[in-house]
Amino acid sequence: METAISVENISKHFTDKKRGLVKAVDELSFHCRAGTIFGLLGLNGAGKTTTLRLLATMLWPTSGTARIAGFDIVKQPDKVKANIGFLTGSTGLYLRLTPREIITYFGKLAGMDTASLKQRGDRLIDLLDMGEFADRRIDKLSTGQKQKTSIARTMIHNPPVLILDEPTSGLDVLTSRAIIKLVRNAKDEGKCVIFSTHMMHEAATLCDEIAVIDKGRLQTQGTLTQFREQYGKENLDDIFVAILENGGGR
Ligand SMILES: Nc1ncnc2c1ncn2[C@@H]1O[C@H](COP(=O)(O)OP(=O)(O)OP(=O)(O)O)[C@@H](O)[C@H]1O
Ligand SMILES: [Mg+2]
Repeated sequence: METAISVENISKHFTDKKRGLVKAVDELSFHCRAGTIFGLLGLNGAGKTTTLRLLATMLWPTSGTARIAGFDIVKQPDKVKANIGFLTGSTGLYLRLTPREIITYFGKLAGMDTASLKQRGDRLIDLLDMGEFADRRIDKLSTGQKQKTSIARTMIHNPPVLILDEPTSGLDVLTSRAIIKLVRNAKDEGKCVIFSTHMMHEAATLCDEIAVIDKGRLQTQGTLTQFREQYGKENLDDIFVAILENGGGR
């Protein structure tokens, strides 16, 4: 299968007044294939969001690079942007617009024609069960309804690579399920999805491959089946703790 994301020795250092040099991402390398779901696990502060922001060209790497859909994040950021959908907690939504207006606005920005924009917008609204609030102003929506809107916005231009930072954080079971269904659909359509999560059961059921990072470094990468064999444990929670405890075997 074709490589959709190829991360090559990427680092991101911040200089913090109090903490000094922070190696948020430290020489990270991994690959994700098209048609698969890739999970990024790590404790708070491990470097997940920084990694995903680097891939989404929202941050400039200190060193190293990554290729997404064949394009280099440092040399071809515009091409990368056109080929990804990026969801992050801070994804801005215009409070006075409605979900349908936001989706349409971002579709137009991505250069979509009116007919395909309407067709895909309607499909996403349907898949995410957004019909009831699609024409209500964003400032009147709940957290979950806003998150669905953000996801629809992220996916409107049908990009081959989806980068989702904690897509189901703070959502109820049904809303989470709707989003998980959409992620599975995306995979079935041959897209590559990379997402970060603290929900181990979600990673266990969804991911084809899982990478665990700690203090900006890759601890291990593999399938749940491989981890179960390697660590002699069934639950991803227990495996995750074991990986962190033995430093991924490094
Ligand atoms: N702009 C910044 N300036 C200084 N330090 C930063 C900055 N952004 C992130 N960091 C630091 O980089 C490290 C990684 O942060 P990051 O947000 O990537 O972690 P995370 O794995 O997403 O954590 P969480 O699970 O809490 O979302 C942390 O130590 C954080 O404090
Ligand atoms: Mg984060």
